[in-house]
Amino acid sequence: MKDFVQTKISVDQLCKGMFVARLDRPWVETPFPFQGFIITRDRELELLHQYCQHVYIDMERGVAPGQPLRRSTFEAPPVQVKCARFRVDHKRYEIRQKFHQYIHHADRAFSELNQSVTAAFDQVRVGQKPNLDPVRPQAEKMVQAVIDNPDTFLWLSHLRQVDDYSYHHSVRMSVLALMLGRHIGLNETRLYNIALGCLFADIGNTRISRKLLYKQGGYTEEEKARIRQHVDLGLHIMSGVRDFPNESMEIIATHHERHDGSGYNKGLSGDLIPLGGRIAGLVDTYDAITNPRHHRPVTSTAKALDELYRLRNRHFQDQLVDEFIQAIGLYPSGSVVELNTGETAVVISHDEKNRLRPVVAVIRDIRGQHLSQPRTIDLASEKAQQQHIQIAQALPTMAADVDYDRIHRQQVLKKRSWLPFLKTA
Ligand SMILES: [Fe+2]
Repeated sequence: MKDFVQTKISVDQLCKGMFVARLDRPWVETPFPFQGFIITRDRELELLHQYCQHVYIDMERGVAPGQPLRRSTFEAPPVQVKCARFRVDHKRYEIRQKFHQYIHHADRAFSELNQSVTAAFDQVRVGQKPNLDPVRPQAEKMVQAVIDNPDTFLWLSHLRQVDDYSYHHSVRMSVLALMLGRHIGLNETRLYNIALGCLFADIGNTRISRKLLYKQGGYTEEEKARIRQHVDLGLHIMSGVRDFPNESMEIIATHHERHDGSGYNKGLSGDLIPLGGRIAGLVDTYDAITNPRHHRPVTSTAKALDELYRLRNRHFQDQLVDEFIQAIGLYPSGSVVELNTGETAVVISHDEKNRLRPVVAVIRDIRGQHLSQPRTIDLASEKAQQQHIQIAQALPTMAADVDYDRIHRQQVLKKRSWLPFLKTA
């Protein structure tokens, strides 16, 4: 088994640029994001002194003691923007359904959502207004499903039902936004508005050529301006659509605005960006980092969360980033990880109290060879804990070439395969 590449040092030896991977106390007792972070500010050093005696640093993700700082470690200081903290209620919802008992229901609800939203997108592509009558009840079911057990829809959002990046991206955005909204305790009406807003946030892209959207390499200024028009195009498409909530419309209008005023269409900042738009912008960015179009490099979940953490108080309100990191966890459903046995696995679901020890499907052996039949392990089980099997690190998703549909059919929908270590025939 591999050892973690982490070094224990006293907090007195810490300096900016180091990546803090572990503390000498539980993360939940501190204000720090539990996936670890790079020290970039004096305030973080002060807090580390306040909370810890020693920590573990990861020298692959930050500088080592005595090593010169990398320029990328320091970026522009956060801007001062008026933005009040929003109220949160972490206790509003609790997990009401077990993943393996609920997945069949969620699977059906997800298929129906796919059908209704694809039909609405197709109507827009041929120049019609979308008919939301079939979409609304499905969006309501999605809200209920994410409230009952957020892992189910997050897992399902990785399945390849339609070969269309924009569509998949919209569904993932919607699920991620619901997870965040659920975590902070927004009421069900607001969750519904946010879900619908995210599903249609990029509907304007249906009026932009696929050649431009999927272009290799960078964009010219003219091309960027054309792509930015998807916001106005989306507002035009959805204007007058019956019962499309105002809050959902605001999401289309503001999902590219950024906390520091650097976004578009209006260059709004801080409080002037409605909470739904802030949430949509954050999850849009996270999903674009973890599921990039083909011309962008792939990033693991952990690095995407690092990236968002660095954008705190610049592109995104710090409180919102912190809540998102807590909501999604270090190893969200669908993410790819390396076990300390050297095997590669895909995260399926979590027990709410043991989120660092999820149920995983092993897809590659220690030599990197694909298993003919994925194998499910419950890392929270006594047997896995006795054998000290745990997650060593998060991996970029596409690098592992994951066949989610196969795992879904062969493992997830078969309850018998949920027993720890049971190999299916
Ligand atoms: Fe967009």
